[in-house]
Amino acid sequence: MQPPPPLPPAEYAARRSGLLERLSPGSVAVLGGARQVLRNGDAHYRFRQNSDFWYLTGFPEPEALLVLRPGADDGIESALFCRGRDAHSELWDGARAGPERAAELYGLDAAYDVSQIDDLLTGWLDGADTLYSPSHRDPVLRRLIARTVGRVREQGGQRPKRRADILPLIHGARLCKSDGEIERLRYSAQVAAAAHRRAMRSVQPGQWEYQLEAEYLHEFMRHGAREAAYCGIVAGGANACVLHYTDNDRQLRAGELVLVDAGCEYQGYASDITRTFPVDGAFTAPQRDLYQVVLAANEALIDGIHQGSTKQELEAGAVRLLTRGLVDLGLLSGDVDALIEDGAHRTYYMHGVSHWLGLDVHDAGPYTEDRGRRSRTLHPGTVFTVEPGLYIAPDSADAAEHWRGIGIRIEDDVLIRPDGAVEVLSGDVPKSVEGITELMRQANPS
Ligand code: GLY
Ligand code: MN
Ligand code: MN
Repeated sequence: MQPPPPLPPAEYAARRSGLLERLSPGSVAVLGGARQVLRNGDAHYRFRQNSDFWYLTGFPEPEALLVLRPGADDGIESALFCRGRDAHSELWDGARAGPERAAELYGLDAAYDVSQIDDLLTGWLDGADTLYSPSHRDPVLRRLIARTVGRVREQGGQRPKRRADILPLIHGARLCKSDGEIERLRYSAQVAAAAHRRAMRSVQPGQWEYQLEAEYLHEFMRHGAREAAYCGIVAGGANACVLHYTDNDRQLRAGELVLVDAGCEYQGYASDITRTFPVDGAFTAPQRDLYQVVLAANEALIDGIHQGSTKQELEAGAVRLLTRGLVDLGLLSGDVDALIEDGAHRTYYMHGVSHWLGLDVHDAGPYTEDRGRRSRTLHPGTVFTVEPGLYIAPDSADAAEHWRGIGIRIEDDVLIRPDGAVEVLSGDVPKSVEGITELMRQANPS
């Protein structure tokens, strides 16, 4: 697997141009990047850039800001504010681009030391039409805006006429992935798929869940995906019925399934794959029967996707397929339509079947269109998950004993290619009972 190189500055510049075109003339937009966060004492969490900021700049350092000024008279439409060069800090923490180099390196019109933001922004806001900023409550950005707007007034200038949220414009653009983004999402999914294959080959009864998690992290890192995209779920036996189980600290036992929901992040792009497989390489009859229902739902949903399908159709399809399967297994009884009407499936299937995937694992972007009137169509360039599951809690009073404590999810990452074809990005990891058991048998012949 060949890790794709960083996206070129021209791609970020094109994203900014697209956004600038959608801002009203004479307006100013201000966005903040992520800051370093202390973990304890003097130790920080590993820095991760804010996804919107990364999308528009590709700038990897903390404490930065971006100001956009459509049609600015001085030609500075995109200005970055970043930490200044500082020999002492750079000796301890590594090189900074600094305002002297950042504009050229990242393809912006200008870059300034972050200490200049108050003065420059105050001047730019004077007489501005609209001030765009993110609606989320970033206290540092909120204080900066309050301070600079206040200064405009103190200096006898004209405050911006209007305020507007910039996030819907950015998130709308993030929904449709470029060729460069698709290449990185594909790679991220290929690495995560390799990690799932590695886990299937190496899992053993007696292993601790965190030891299996280590196999994933090793495979991610080995391929240049330095972070997991989210806290991985490695859930043996009944732990799989806890939807967000992340303790991952119990010993895996023969006869159990292990559900692993794990994906990596490559250049910011996430994968999100779940597989459920037997710790000792063999499914028991109830495990297999329940597994086949989830697998059939996963496959039917993916087979049914076409340009113009909607997210709502996927959700409704999942409920129908899983409800019918539960009736076939005797876990529910009655008429399928009536059961769906009553929401009877919610005892055993209680989450959504799909979400957007991109820079965030639950990616930004609207789920409706036409002012919320219709579910959004899965159009070319969208990437999303398909993740049906069934979870029979160990204390489930209505389920026969042999079903209890079995939790299964099968999650794939799906792209609608620009030509309309459907591509399963996570297709390199087996999901059929035969495919999984064969891979496990080859790794442990006996
Ligand atoms: N891993 C989070 C999810 O599947 O949505
Ligand atoms: Mn997942
Ligand atoms: Mn997911």
